[in-house]
Amino acid sequence: MKTELQDYPLTSTIIKLKTGRVQLTLIKEPDWFLEQLSREDSEGKLYLPYWTYLWESSIALARHVETLGTRLKNTTVLEIGCGFGLTGIVACKMGARLIFTDAEREALRFAHHNAEQNSVHQHTDFVQMDWNSPCFNSKFRYILAADVIYEEHHWQPIVTLLQDYLDPNGVALFSEPNRNNAIGFFKLLKTNGFTYQKSTHPVTLDKQTSQVSIYTIRRVNA
Ligand SMILES: C[S@@+](CC[C@H](N)C(=O)[O-])C[C@H]1O[C@@H](n2cnc3c(N)ncnc32)[C@H](O)[C@@H]1O
Repeated sequence: MKTELQDYPLTSTIIKLKTGRVQLTLIKEPDWFLEQLSREDSEGKLYLPYWTYLWESSIALARHVETLGTRLKNTTVLEIGCGFGLTGIVACKMGARLIFTDAEREALRFAHHNAEQNSVHQHTDFVQMDWNSPCFNSKFRYILAADVIYEEHHWQPIVTLLQDYLDPNGVALFSEPNRNNAIGFFKLLKTNGFTYQKSTHPVTLDKQTSQVSIYTIRRVNA
């Protein structure tokens, strides 16, 4: 995959974590790009390219991944909606082999670049994948997802993806900034054979502190 990002004004940031620092290259003016890259689908529904932002949910999930210690070592982990790649990069640092996926090719270019600059790219694959039509033929012990359940029409495809791709004893780790509608997704999970534990943590990004919830999701009979 081509990793030159010259089409964008760039900025970089360092995310400080317990196990070290992650350097990320980001888009400098995400608001402007959000407007430029927004488009309507065939049914007139507005699509906004949220990958142009780093979300606090990815920081919270990265911190949680750090707490897993050696559990990710030599495990192939799937991340959906990876955006700039922070969470997956931290999972790689914990010893995982990562399959980064996102519907947006441009997001994957950034995730690839960021994996390279944090020296974890030897253990990565980057796959353009829409969670409405996933493309794997294996199951995963861990699936990561930071801030992907913000729109209701995403819920059923994501639950179906978990049913199809989460190993019977696997764990899906989701993070989400306590949006009002999120409860609907977790109700749907429960009616589809999953159970979860939730914990909530403060995250400061761009000088603003917000609460992000981490969900550890398993099959009911795991
Ligand atoms: C709110 S952003 C979160 C990005 C990143 N995980 C983070 O927390 O910074 C949602 C991400 O999901 C991706 N996405 C949206 N719809 C998708 C779909 N149908 N299939 C796969 N990825 C999708 C977007 O491109 C974007 O990267």
